[in-house]
Amino acid sequence: MNLLPLISFFILLTNHVHIGSSFRPNHLIPDRTHDYDLQIRKLQQLKSSLSQTNLVLSSRLYGVTSYGADPTGKTDSTDAILSAIADAVAEERDGILMEGIMNHGGVQISLEGGIYMISRPVKFPVAGVGNIVISGGTLRASENFTNDNYLIDLSSSSSTSSSSSINTEYTYEYITLRDLMLDCNYHGGGIRAINALRTSIDNCYITHFTTNGILVQGGHETYIRNSFLGQHITAGGNPHERSFTGTAINLAGNDNAVTDVVIFSAATGILVSGQANVITGVHCYNKATGFGGTGVYLKLPGLTQTRIVNSYFDYTGIVTEDPVQLHVSGCFFLGDAFIVLKSIRGVVNGVNIVDNMFSGSNKGVDIVQLDQRNGAFNNIDQVVVNNNNVKGMNLKSTVATGVIQGNGTFWTVDFNRILLFSRHIKSVQYTLMTSESNVFPKYVLRNISNNKVLIESDIAVAGSISVTVDQGLSKHS
Ligand SMILES: *[C@@H]1O[C@H](CO)[C@@H](O)[C@H](O)[C@H]1NC(C)=O
Ligand SMILES: *[C@@H]1O[C@H](CO)[C@@H](O)[C@H](O)[C@H]1NC(C)=O
Ligand SMILES: *[C@@H]1O[C@H](CO)[C@@H](O)[C@H](O)[C@H]1NC(C)=O
Repeated sequence: MNLLPLISFFILLTNHVHIGSSFRPNHLIPDRTHDYDLQIRKLQQLKSSLSQTNLVLSSRLYGVTSYGADPTGKTDSTDAILSAIADAVAEERDGILMEGIMNHGGVQISLEGGIYMISRPVKFPVAGVGNIVISGGTLRASENFTNDNYLIDLSSSSSTSSSSSINTEYTYEYITLRDLMLDCNYHGGGIRAINALRTSIDNCYITHFTTNGILVQGGHETYIRNSFLGQHITAGGNPHERSFTGTAINLAGNDNAVTDVVIFSAATGILVSGQANVITGVHCYNKATGFGGTGVYLKLPGLTQTRIVNSYFDYTGIVTEDPVQLHVSGCFFLGDAFIVLKSIRGVVNGVNIVDNMFSGSNKGVDIVQLDQRNGAFNNIDQVVVNNNNVKGMNLKSTVATGVIQGNGTFWTVDFNRILLFSRHIKSVQYTLMTSESNVFPKYVLRNISNNKVLIESDIAVAGSISVTVDQGLSKHS
């Protein structure tokens, strides 16, 4: 056994431990009891000084129990947690983040697997801090936590910037909230990020919120992933589903992503009012449409710019107001869930609802529906609803083909059952087939109003007419 490399490693690590020159590996083999005890004592001293040194070496991890937080959740831990955070960001650090934001190097505030009751939000003492991780435990709102607050509040309200240079646009950058359970205890919301840049919310379970599970306002690039949100802890079929309220994720900002997230109870799963957000791998069973719930509500009339892909709408659907640039694909709609295009000023432009699956219970529910209570859609351009498949629901599409048999001079194919819009056929292709020999009838398209395509032939002929219509082509094409 050669301890020399190990000992020199210890010496490198510790400035304060004095190791005498007589300390040699061969002395570890005792020839007298006294020597042996001496060596053991020396080793113990070395060991204890090492563990102190280790504390110093790992000082970028702030455990909240060291500040007196109560991991049993019985007493109020707000002050202790805020002290740990204040210490974590107290040190001046070099900055490579956005101007005005201090880079704290990835300092970690650990909740150490405890459950902590808090009566005020967990927030940074100053704005303008970044590269910080808060992780690993449960926060629970106390009975006096106010309803307009969030358990974790990344906002700069009543905070001042830590830096002299003023960045008015962004308050925080690269804050990571990971492996957290947030129990709002029916007092307020879970996480708020206002004007924050590059925030990660990863593997969080957020419940018992009354307002929003997560609110993102302004800022950019809040990535919410691999998380579970629900107002009530349920796995579906809850007898009180009708009374679920709140919004699980409220995106009032641009360029965020919600990926691999389950929303298991809330009146609205995701409310979007900022552009260029992407929703992918989300499972919404937050509140059934029949009870007044919505999976994803896109409140961006006139400029939507939202992509919803590979998601699962489970008895609850999508509502989009005057969609302009919307993409929905690869999604599964179960339990008669459907998509509503809601008219505000009658605009629908640049919409792709393609390659989805819809499953229902033969109640005649249309997979895509128009809500025209505010006025009819009259500004329709580049809308493609196509290539979806249905089981027990009514297929709706902007592209359709119909074939009718007949014998005569007038041929009418009615597309109302399948076409999404009641008018607006933009192109028609038609072919007359007949097995009668020696006739070469002329036939023309006479009328396409009300989604009924009328073809007239100059002579009576027995055969079939095949017609393909499209409502989706651009008016500019
Ligand atoms: C809020 O509740 C906690 C825990 O019950 C208590 O320690 C704290 O003093 C209360 N704060 C106020 C302002 O009532
Ligand atoms: C088409 O109608 C004409 C006149 O009514 C009739 O004579 C003819 O047999 C019909 N042809 C077929 C294929 O049914
Ligand atoms: C097309 O048919 C509708 C009724 O179906 C009618 O009101 C309209 O005048 C027709 N248009 C033409 C050009 O015949």
